[in-house]
Formats: sequence, structure tokens, C-alpha cells
Amino acid sequence: MAVEPTSVCYEGNIVPNFQFYLEHSEEHKAMLQCVQNVLPGEFTRIGASKSSLDVLGVGSGGGEMDVHMLSLLQSMFPAVPITADIVEGSSKLSDNFKALVAKTANLQTIPFDWHVMHSGDYEKQVKAKGDIKKFDFIHMIQMIYYVDNLGETIKFYQSLLKKNGRLMVIVEAANSGWDLLWKSFTNELCTHEIKEYRSSAEVIACLKKQGLKYDEHPAPNSFDITECFNPSSETGQRLLNFMTAQDHFHESFTPEIRASMLDLLRNKCSTEKDGKVFFNSDMKCILVHG
Ligand SMILES: C[S@@+](CC[C@H](N)C(=O)[O-])C[C@H]1O[C@@H](n2cnc3c(N)ncnc32)[C@H](O)[C@@H]1O
Repeated sequence: MAVEPTSVCYEGNIVPNFQFYLEHSEEHKAMLQCVQNVLPGEFTRIGASKSSLDVLGVGSGGGEMDVHMLSLLQSMFPAVPITADIVEGSSKLSDNFKALVAKTANLQTIPFDWHVMHSGDYEKQVKAKGDIKKFDFIHMIQMIYYVDNLGETIKFYQSLLKKNGRLMVIVEAANSGWDLLWKSFTNELCTHEIKEYRSSAEVIACLKKQGLKYDEHPAPNSFDITECFNPSSETGQRLLNFMTAQDHFHESFTPEIRASMLDLLRNKCSTEKDGKVFFNSDMKCILVHG
């Protein structure tokens, strides 16, 4: 049965804003450090006595993290065939990911199945098809904010795990700058794609409620937001656009709201060092057991 797609994600300015944010936040570097510590041990256990390894990436964006993780898995199990399924709602970012795969020599032996759609549509499609492909490793990196129903989404993707499989969720940490900003300004910020802000606290509460076993690892990060306090700085405005999920930070809020957001960013979400303001962007890497 064909599933009518509900909508696409990450359309318009959000893609360049996200790419700009990645260049300025060193977020991938911080994630990479965490996954390089955590995944070798996890992959050793996940891959033990497997004759094939199936990986599912949900909300993979341009695939930079996927390429690292697949290359690591491949280097650890060179004789085991690996498959990759990707569920990504943005056609632009999916195209970037395909281009990255095309120029990564070692990935040419891995067949990719691209599902350019909303994670909720993938879920409907899988359920309608009945023939359910299961996975050894599923990851949802910085994307859980965008799903409609946190509990149902985790339940569904956890149910796709094979024996010994792991679902890895990377999300902003409870009490990080993001958590404080988005929970202090819920009415102003949760108006577009993100309807309900979630940090690691909400994800862990959901796992506990469902009685799922998990491990938790820190992925500390911070980045320089000094420019955000200079209204004529393009860098500052572009960072604020992504941090508040708006096309134009300045046009989206009243001067009073902008001033209180900036005050919170400086005084509650950041630390100052050598005259610079560093935003607390700590993340958590949560591994849910199959
Ligand atoms: C913040 S980006 C993270 C991208 C990537 N995981 C990374 O860390 O670089 C969020 C990604 O999730 C995708 N996305 C958002 N909502 C989605 C949904 N419901 N289903 C599938 N992908 C979604 C966006 O298109 C975007 O690529």
C-alpha cells in the first residue's frame, strides 16, 4: 500500500542556516569524539557472530556522521556485508549525503536504500508493507525534536532492532543552553517544525516509562556566540536564526522578546572567557538496547 507523504522537512532557509551552524559550532567534532569512544565497544558486541550488518540512519542530514560510523563498522568487520538504509526528510540534504557517499571510496561496497521522507511516513510504510527489515544499529542524531510523538517514535524504532542491536539517540543535554532557551521561550519558539522541545531529560523519562534498558554518555560541547550580541554582525544573526529556528531572528520577535532572549543566552546559557561568550551546547548520547 502506498503511503501519502504528510510533508517534507528542512525546506527553505533552514538548510543553509543548519550548515552555517555546523561550521560555527564544531558540533560534529564533539559528537565524533563521543562516538569514537563509545562505538568501538558497542560495535564489537553488536557485530559478534553476525553474517550481515544492517544500519538505519534516521534524520541523517548530509550524512557526515553516518560516513564516519559506517567506515568504523566496516573497518571492524571487513568480511561482513553491511547495508545502510537512510530515512531523511530533506531532499537537499539527502542529495548532499548521496554526493558524499559517491566520493567516499570505502563506502562503494555498501548498498544504500534512500527513503527521502518523514520518519512518520517511513513508519507507516513499514507497517503497511508487513515485511519488516530489522537492523543491528539505528541512529537518530539531533533529530528527535522534529518527530510528532516521542514515545511512539522511540517504541517503533526500538522495535526494528535485531537481537543485541542498539538504537543511538544523540540529543541536547538536560539543562544545556538549548534546553534553557527553548523551555524559557516555548510559546515563541515551538511554533514551526518543533512543536515540543525535548532534551535528554524527556528522552530518558520516555525510556523509563517504556521500561527500556539504556546507557548514557556525555558529549560535551560549547561554541562562541559573542557575535550574537552585535546586531550588525551577520554571523551573529545567522547563528540566532538557527538557534531559534527562525528565518530571521530580528523580524520574528518583538524588541522586548529579543532582549530577554539575548539576556538569557548571555547570563544563563553561557560562560564568559577572555571577553568571549561560550554557549553551553552539551549533548547526550543515549544507547537503547534491543
Ligand atoms: C539538526 S539536523 C541533524 C542532521 C544530522 N543528523 C547531523 O547531526 O548532522 C536534523 C535532520 O533531521 C531531518 N528531519 C527532521 N525531521 C525529520 C523527520 N520527521 N523525518 C526524517 N528526517 C527528519 C532534517 O531534514 C535534518 O536533516
